[in-house]
Amino acid sequence: MLTYVFSTQLLEILTILAIIGESSWAALPGSYCKEMGSSTYRPHSVSVTEFGAVGDGITLNTKAFQNAIFYLHSFADKGGAQLFVPAGKWLTGSFSLISHLTLSLDKDAVIIGSMDSSDWPVIDPLPSYGRGRELPGGRHQSLIHGSNLTDVIITGGNGTVDGQGCVWWEWFNNHTLNYTRPHLIELMYSKGVVISNLTFINSPFWAIHPVYCSQVLVQNVTILAPPDSPNTDGIDPDSSDNVCIEDCYISTGDDLIVIKSGWDEYGISFARPSSNISIRHIVGEANSGAGIALGSEMSGGISNVRAEDICLFNSLYGIRIKTSPGRGGYVRHIHISNVIMTNVKTAIGITGRYGEHPDENYDPNALPVIDMITIEDVSGTVIKHAGTLEGIKGDNFNSICLSNVHLNVTSKHPWKCSYIEGFSNLVTPELCESLRNPYQSSVCYTANHFDCCNLVQAA
Ligand SMILES: *[C@@H]1O[C@H](CO)[C@@H](O)[C@H](O)[C@H]1NC(C)=O
Ligand SMILES: *[C@@H]1O[C@H](CO)[C@@H](O)[C@H](O)[C@H]1NC(C)=O
Ligand SMILES: *[C@@H]1O[C@H](CO)[C@@H](O)[C@H](O)[C@H]1NC(C)=O
Ligand SMILES: *[C@@H]1O[C@H](CO)[C@@H](O)[C@H](O)[C@H]1NC(C)=O
Ligand SMILES: *[C@@H]1O[C@H](CO)[C@@H](O)[C@H](O)[C@H]1NC(C)=O
Ligand SMILES: *[C@@H]1O[C@H](CO)[C@@H](O)[C@H](O)[C@H]1NC(C)=O
Ligand SMILES: *[C@@H]1O[C@H](CO)[C@@H](O)[C@H](O)[C@H]1NC(C)=O
Ligand SMILES: *[C@@H]1O[C@H](CO)[C@@H](O)[C@H](O)[C@H]1NC(C)=O
Repeated sequence: MLTYVFSTQLLEILTILAIIGESSWAALPGSYCKEMGSSTYRPHSVSVTEFGAVGDGITLNTKAFQNAIFYLHSFADKGGAQLFVPAGKWLTGSFSLISHLTLSLDKDAVIIGSMDSSDWPVIDPLPSYGRGRELPGGRHQSLIHGSNLTDVIITGGNGTVDGQGCVWWEWFNNHTLNYTRPHLIELMYSKGVVISNLTFINSPFWAIHPVYCSQVLVQNVTILAPPDSPNTDGIDPDSSDNVCIEDCYISTGDDLIVIKSGWDEYGISFARPSSNISIRHIVGEANSGAGIALGSEMSGGISNVRAEDICLFNSLYGIRIKTSPGRGGYVRHIHISNVIMTNVKTAIGITGRYGEHPDENYDPNALPVIDMITIEDVSGTVIKHAGTLEGIKGDNFNSICLSNVHLNVTSKHPWKCSYIEGFSNLVTPELCESLRNPYQSSVCYTANHFDCCNLVQAA
């Protein structure tokens, strides 16, 4: 395995990516993220210490967070308020945010999740999943939670949120969980969310989960979890639209960024897609997952996704689409470009045989539509398999387009393809025949140019 020292390398890579990308996204019209959160000023601010919080890493501060936020309710219609978390170690259970709130961490502040599962209340399953993702029934509420909110900012000068996930990973591994594990941050049914300038470590489960949200910006965050920690995805936009994720370093035990939209019959009937998603300037290691993934829960549909300037190391997959009969839904109009991979087992993985169903009531005839996926300008070194591209018998995946993809592959059989068709241009090693039709920009998806995020400034 290759190892890297990231502190300086990350900055270099981000700088290089910024230079490469500058021309392609500067000054494009139609931004949806620029409108959000920009320089939101909160006329009122309190510190969590004013509500009795003690930053010794031992005192449980759940009540202090709850009381502070309850107090700040009265400022919601007066321009909103800021809750400041000063330097210190602030142990807490789950707490819930309100609208027009900025949660702001000092650079030396660490919010630490309690290791007692009873400090993470159990809430209803998501309607688009029908049950907890891991176990039937409810799920533990995220450490920082929010529902039905508008205008929420979670930020800091690189302060830290530490989920102390290791106890949850052990409960998962020894099968003693009673409910699905919690996230570090989950916002549900919310609009106008900014998560920026923070470090998230050791999430019990997926770290950042916006679900049924619109206008979400995740910018300049670091997300870290050990390579073998189970299901510690980085950022999972789920049935959400107008989402921008940029300038992040993510190294976890599962997917770095993965777009979802509900699970089998529950996701089909809830029918809320993920769309208009822009991902750029991401560096990371997906030791047991993929750098950029779509699915496997995609039953509400996923479309209009653009990912660019991605640099991946030491990963199981680079780019991955996961689905299964029973999911229904669609993944279409996806454009992934300018990806550099080093030491990745499978550069591109598309599978229609992912499996995993919420229960026995899924409809095996609900076949997903996978269509108009373009992957271009990819280079890879120390790659084992170039791609495993597998559609579903009787449900071919169509218009899969690869252009300017060059992978230095060690396997003697670099591509494995079935039930998949598309177009290509300048791909090495040579692709499977069903994808060798000449690339045509009229049939391959070329992304809608939506710019985002450049000008967003938190309070
Ligand atoms: C939040 O919004 C959803 C969708 O509009 C609604 O079903 C739910 O009742 C709301 N919850 C609360 C607590 O208001
Ligand atoms: C990212 O966060 C660091 C630490 O808080 C800060 O110094 C830097 O300016 C931020 N960069 C951007 C692009 O916001
Ligand atoms: C933020 O802190 C993390 C953890 O200490 C560090 O790895 C990262 O480089 C910092 N990010 C920035 C932008 O300074
Ligand atoms: C499972 O892991 C938890 C957390 O480390 C531990 O407290 C518990 O004793 C373990 N249970 C079993 C049955 O191994
Ligand atoms: C599961 O429930 C049992 C019985 O109530 C309890 O003792 C145990 O602590 C719970 N486990 C977790 C991880 O919450
Ligand atoms: C997605 O973006 C397009 C183009 O900017 C816009 O027309 C469309 O309404 C957006 N979709 C959603 C769900 O916001
Ligand atoms: C792949 O390997 C060849 C020969 O070792 C080398 O010339 C080429 O630059 C490599 N390609 C990439 C993308 O690193
Ligand atoms: C992140 O921090 C930088 C440097 O302090 C600041 O300029 C920027 O506005 C912050 N970004 C967001 C989205 O909060």
